[in-house]
Amino acid sequence: MNPVDIIVKKRDGGELSKEEIDFFIDGVVSGAIPDYQIAAWLMAVYFRGMTDRETTDLTLAMAASGDQLDLHDVLPGAVIVDKHSSGGVGDKTTLAVAPIAAACGLPVGKMSGRGLSFSGGTIDKLESIRGWTAEISQEHFRRQLRSIGLVIAAQTANLAPADKILYALRDVTGTVPSLPLIAASIMSKKLAAGADAIVLDVKCGRGAFMETLDDARALAQRMVAIGRLAGRKVTALITQMQQPLGLAVGNALEVKEAIATLHNAGPADFHELVETVAGEMLLIAGAAEDMNQARAAVRKVIADGSAFEKFRAFVAAQGGDASLVDHPERLPTAPVQLPVPAPVDGYVHAIDAREVGLVTVDLGGGRHKKGDPIDPAVGVVLSAKVGAKVQSGETLCTVHAATEQSATAAAKRLQAAYAIADAPMRPLEIVLDRVA
Ligand code: URA
Repeated sequence: MNPVDIIVKKRDGGELSKEEIDFFIDGVVSGAIPDYQIAAWLMAVYFRGMTDRETTDLTLAMAASGDQLDLHDVLPGAVIVDKHSSGGVGDKTTLAVAPIAAACGLPVGKMSGRGLSFSGGTIDKLESIRGWTAEISQEHFRRQLRSIGLVIAAQTANLAPADKILYALRDVTGTVPSLPLIAASIMSKKLAAGADAIVLDVKCGRGAFMETLDDARALAQRMVAIGRLAGRKVTALITQMQQPLGLAVGNALEVKEAIATLHNAGPADFHELVETVAGEMLLIAGAAEDMNQARAAVRKVIADGSAFEKFRAFVAAQGGDASLVDHPERLPTAPVQLPVPAPVDGYVHAIDAREVGLVTVDLGGGRHKKGDPIDPAVGVVLSAKVGAKVQSGETLCTVHAATEQSATAAAKRLQAAYAIADAPMRPLEIVLDRVA
């Protein structure tokens, strides 16, 4: 076997055998296959797709490409629950959901990623808290899971290392929005990280990798099927990503919004999503009998402050300055804050979430190429969401930028990202469907 034959076979629409997929993934991880051949193969998969069988084989090969964690010796008898988002704009859900689930007594030991294309990443967001690190040893991971019940780490070099390599290359080769590549990327990490039960948040719309409900459903169904095959319980929610989630987009800005939500003061759509995802985690773990009971438990740990305390303890345990959690206004703040006015009177009909994500990347909040540094302070804070009535001159959103020049360029693009029309418009539903 050689990599060129496998690239050519996929380029021409062939179905790769399990042996070919195993060979390719081995070569990715050992370094025998160089980046340019991997990139060509990714593009071939992007255009030609993969069958269910190929996607499952790819997922299992990627999951087996490194260590496979078993956390049951740390927490004997516990159901280890995980959640994962397919990626969106303003998606800080993990930051609120993980401490809530942990405060409800569900141990959460989670591997998270960095930003990918226009979508942000949990690790980049948490790194805006001074001192916080995602680079912890396995020993630290286990100790913290036992003592605090909540740990979020970067994918270690040894956990699904094939995904780490493919993910970074996809980000810079235009091959992110591919159903089999996303399904295999997400599920390989979830399988290798040892969760018994997984809640998937599949984003749908302009600010997601799956733009239509049909595509999002197909991705959700494929991931649920892969999880089942691997003996795990999986539920998928399909959620709104036509406009950004919540109000804040940008790393430190999103941390502030997540902390506000843990204080019961977050934006309505984000709060609703957090409650639903956390509720699904309690349900799938058998910690609640029905969704009403699950939601009540979630509300309780927010109201009594225990979810916030869990977040604080988790930040401190991973080296973060907990005073920033108590005083989020001291998190990195951009020197320039420029309001973007509505050009006309009317109702907000759409906010192009992808453009808001791309503007944030261009402000320095994301990466153009592998390894680029990011600016934690920059981003966008929305004042008006879909359905809002606005008057000409009223602030639609505010740009948080490092320079006047970048703020002005961003403001122009953000004004164009808003569609405003005369007819009233209903706010968008946050949860669109559920696949279990
Ligand atoms: N999240 C992942 O982990 N992988 C993807 O490919 C997309 C979103």
